[in-house]
Amino acid sequence: MSTLAPIPSLNYEVVFGDTGVESLNQFLKQAHYSSLFILVDSNTHPNCLPLFLEILETERPIDIIEIEAGEEHKHIETCMGVWETLSENGADRKSVMINLGGGVVTDLGGFVASTFKRGIDFINIPTSLLAMVDASVGGKTGVDLGVLKNQIGVIQQPQLVWVSDQFLGTLPKEQFRSGYSEMLKHGLIADPAYWEQLADYSQFTVDSLLPTIHHSVGIKNEVVKQDPTEQGWRKILNFGHTLGHAVESYALQSPEQKTLLHGEAIAVGMVLEAYLSVSLCGLPMSAAEAIKTVFHSIFDKEVFSATAQEKILELLIFDKKNSHGQVNFMLLEAIGKPKLDVQVPSELFKEAFAFYKR
Ligand SMILES: NC(=O)c1ccc[n+]([C@@H]2O[C@H](COP(=O)([O-])OP(=O)(O)OC[C@H]3O[C@@H](n4cnc5c(N)ncnc54)[C@H](O)[C@@H]3O)[C@@H](O)[C@H]2O)c1
Ligand SMILES: [Zn+2]
Repeated sequence: MSTLAPIPSLNYEVVFGDTGVESLNQFLKQAHYSSLFILVDSNTHPNCLPLFLEILETERPIDIIEIEAGEEHKHIETCMGVWETLSENGADRKSVMINLGGGVVTDLGGFVASTFKRGIDFINIPTSLLAMVDASVGGKTGVDLGVLKNQIGVIQQPQLVWVSDQFLGTLPKEQFRSGYSEMLKHGLIADPAYWEQLADYSQFTVDSLLPTIHHSVGIKNEVVKQDPTEQGWRKILNFGHTLGHAVESYALQSPEQKTLLHGEAIAVGMVLEAYLSVSLCGLPMSAAEAIKTVFHSIFDKEVFSATAQEKILELLIFDKKNSHGQVNFMLLEAIGKPKLDVQVPSELFKEAFAFYKR
């Protein structure tokens, strides 16, 4: 398990498991950084940092910067605090930032590093499953603006990403499931055999997952390499996300709907968009039914009233993929075969919700 090959990305590598630690230490030795700043949140500080400090080899000074855990802290105010700490502690252009945490830490830390003194290097060490298979790779960094997600940011690649399943032991179960949802998406957009393999959630344990994580990173990385700045093809990673984001925002704003984690919301989004794929792209109904069965076996079935559905559709217009006033969807012609920029007639949304519920 410790011999998983490094995955070469744009100008850096994603390294895995035990051999990955050696690469990381080797990299730090050769890079001659002046000092190391490790960004953690209030959960990864106690849960992941001690483990990391045990294996980290460096003679350089280390500073720890902690931010509060949670999406609600993924804001410019939090960045201000981190920039100030960097400055007060003498960070210079040869300092490196090591982001040790979930997607909030890797997104925010990458943004802070990319803008501090016009950009210092950063390394991602994802500790949530979602950050391992998604957020830490691909170079999107940034923060939210009010309730609008990821409105401020830059695309900047890390110097290295180290993925280790050692951190997953303390990750809450529902957070784990949320990351799994993105892995299922990787199967749906790129690899039918992988989708089949993931369909039985009960077979996976934290200890057996690293090769699977490796496979998912490989899929995301291939897509990102073809289209680093999301001009076209990279949008396939948004399958389930157009409606999923709207569902996520809706749940966040409405007292009658329980808040959904990102992966939970896009699980709903993928079932809804599977239906749209049947109507508009020729995905066989049997495939959409199979997709629904898998997601309903892993995630709770949510209830969306008629009013809720209307509000979700209103929220669609806030989606960042909405250009020229039209909402574009990434749908599926078949499992493993995505189709970009499909426009959806509004009467289909109701049917999609009915399909989700059936
Ligand atoms: N840049 C990208 O391409 C990209 C892709 C997908 C998602 N994202 C972003 O990632 C964020 C979601 O990532 P996330 O789900 O990792 O959220 P998160 O960073 O908030 O982590 C989820 C929770 O798990 C905790 N946690 C993380 N690792 C832990 C561990 N090993 N043990 C115990 N607790 C741990 C965190 O403190 C947090 O409370 C969103 O802000 C999203 O916009 C970015
Ligand atoms: Zn996502």
